[in-house]
Amino acid sequence: MSLGPKAVSSRSQVTWCVSVAACVGLFVAVGCGAPPAPESDAPEGAAQEVSGSFDTATPDRPHLVDALSMPAEPTLSVDSFTSASECAECHPRHYAEWSTAMHAYATVDPVWRALVGVRQADFNGERDKFCVQCHTAIGTRGGEVTANFSFDDFSPIALEGVTCEACHKISSIERPFTGGHVLDESGPIRGPIRDPVETFFHESEYSELFDSSELCASCHDVFEQHGLNLERPYAEWLESPAAREGRNCQSCHMPTYTGQAAVLDGVPERDNLHSHRFIGVDLPLSPTFIEDPEVFEEVRREVKALLASAGEIELSAADTVQVGETLNVNATVRNLIDAHNLPTGATFNRQVWIALTATDAAGTVLFQTGHLDANGDLRTWGSDEPDSDEHLTTFQSGFTDADGNRTPFPWKAVENNSNSIAPLEERTTTFPVPTTGAVGPITIDAKLRFRQAPPFVARALGLEAAVPRIEIHEIGEAELIVAVE
Ligand code: HEC
Ligand code: HEC
Ligand code: HEC
Ligand code: HEC
Ligand code: HEC
Repeated sequence: MSLGPKAVSSRSQVTWCVSVAACVGLFVAVGCGAPPAPESDAPEGAAQEVSGSFDTATPDRPHLVDALSMPAEPTLSVDSFTSASECAECHPRHYAEWSTAMHAYATVDPVWRALVGVRQADFNGERDKFCVQCHTAIGTRGGEVTANFSFDDFSPIALEGVTCEACHKISSIERPFTGGHVLDESGPIRGPIRDPVETFFHESEYSELFDSSELCASCHDVFEQHGLNLERPYAEWLESPAAREGRNCQSCHMPTYTGQAAVLDGVPERDNLHSHRFIGVDLPLSPTFIEDPEVFEEVRREVKALLASAGEIELSAADTVQVGETLNVNATVRNLIDAHNLPTGATFNRQVWIALTATDAAGTVLFQTGHLDANGDLRTWGSDEPDSDEHLTTFQSGFTDADGNRTPFPWKAVENNSNSIAPLEERTTTFPVPTTGAVGPITIDAKLRFRQAPPFVARALGLEAAVPRIEIHEIGEAELIVAVE
């Protein structure tokens, strides 16, 4: 497995199809049978941190079941869990914030649902538990994910995705990846308050887990069934300055505020309550998920602010250039996050890139990279004009299948090649700007851009209507003016 800063070769050609139905047909037709053998270096490092591992996998039988997170028989009853809406009465702010968060979106997410549909068809339902085990651990462990299941048959609590009790009934972590948390269905509500006021509604118990990154790791570090590492924010964090200084995921993703943890008489004001919006990079693509436009705007502003804090771009070049010479412009991108890579998480579905334009005083564009094609796509795989942007510089990761072709489907991938930048590190790219006939001075404008998904992937998954909702955010920008002699 390679997750090093290795560029994905642009020579790979991709066979694309226009809808899930077409994709399904195509992949069945080309026979997408068993994935490659497990990679031996997959979860071991992480496994040593907290004991426990997957059930043994073999090449012909990858992690099809796992006693903890993908049990063959139900290990809990979905009826033991209480709906988030019942918590709202005493915890209105926690509920309101959670209901706008990706955690509440986890089983209604149209991108997730579309991918699960393709996987169902690819494996005829045999591997259906895998993609569901974190998005609804309660539903998966409760036996609702059987071969070729339908979302229509999910219970209401499974449709709540990562609901309150999907976290607050976690009693321990067996492995800090791939659904490695233990859910204690009959246990108390666990949380970070050491002296909780008693309530008739639930037993409360302090648990140090809620103040740890391991809690997040059990869902946020993901290995595919054949061993490929898909997501690794926790593994990145373990080696980061933030971890050395004892700052966990919550310190950025759950900012604190002062108030009552439960809005009831006799409950004290506390100064370290935690936002449950879990701001990341995603805005819901489903227009009905956050109905109130003002709330949507607020979440959007917070996403933009988080992204603006994530990195910066700087330009440098000679002060002057002679007409006709090549002007070498250096663009340095720096990750300002001291806790994980830029980008992190589901990086294979993100786009982070440098958009750079050099224009002379007459308005002639001398050089351009990171600009979009007529469909709004970057000029790379999936574009109408693939490979027409020779200098395209991106920082996300990309899957390659056994034939060396690009694929958006993790189960078909043998490599996840990442260009992401480690905490507080930087990377410089040099762009050669031709200056033949240029009228001075030359203005170079650069932006570091982010988008949650490539439009061509959304279209290929049958989510055409969502494309206009995929916004481009600026992480950073820079300008440089060079005189011409
Ligand atoms: C180990 C737990 C786990 C498993 C297994 C898992 N996911 Fe996720 N998934 C997550 C987490 C955590 C996130 C949020 C990460 C992020 O946004 O960076 C996520 C986010 C997503 C998203 C939304 C982000 C985006 O790209 O728009 C999609 C879609 C998705 N997963 C699809 C899948 C599919 C398909 C599978 C099976 C191949 C799968 N997931 C298996 C935990 C998991
Ligand atoms: C009838 C009111 C009421 C309802 C309904 C309620 N809670 Fe609570 N909850 C409380 C009170 C009171 C506290 C203690 C607050 C304090 O001491 O500051 C509390 C504390 C908590 C804590 C912190 C526990 C700790 O020790 O850190 C969590 C987590 C929690 N509740 C989650 C939930 C969830 C999840 C639900 C829904 C399944 C829920 N609550 C429903 C009243 C309620
Ligand atoms: C120092 C603040 C900070 C800390 C600590 C931190 N993050 Fe982040 N996180 C960010 C910023 C800024 C972004 C947006 C840029 C990016 O995607 O890398 C982000 C993005 C994310 C995303 C969305 C990525 C995507 O593209 O889907 C996930 C998931 C995430 N963080 C999880 C974690 C986890 C898990 C931890 C702990 C192991 C953690 N973060 C710790 C600042 C932080
Ligand atoms: C993704 C996991 C997750 C989900 C889902 C979640 N919580 Fe929490 N909750 C936490 C963590 C983690 C903390 C403690 C953060 C810390 O101490 O750094 C917390 C803290 C709390 C507290 C203690 C007071 C505070 O703000 O610190 C209450 C009460 C609470 N949550 C209620 C809820 C309710 C109600 C829901 C659903 C509407 C919910 N939580 C959903 C992870 C979660
Ligand atoms: C039970 C599994 C689970 C746990 C535990 C969990 N998450 Fe998540 N988280 C998810 C899933 C699944 C998603 C993505 C859902 C989707 O978009 O479809 C997600 C999404 C997120 C996002 C939004 C990412 C984006 O792309 O915008 C952030 C931020 C995040 N989680 C942070 C955390 C932090 C911090 C913790 C620990 C305190 C945590 N999560 C614990 C499953 C979990």
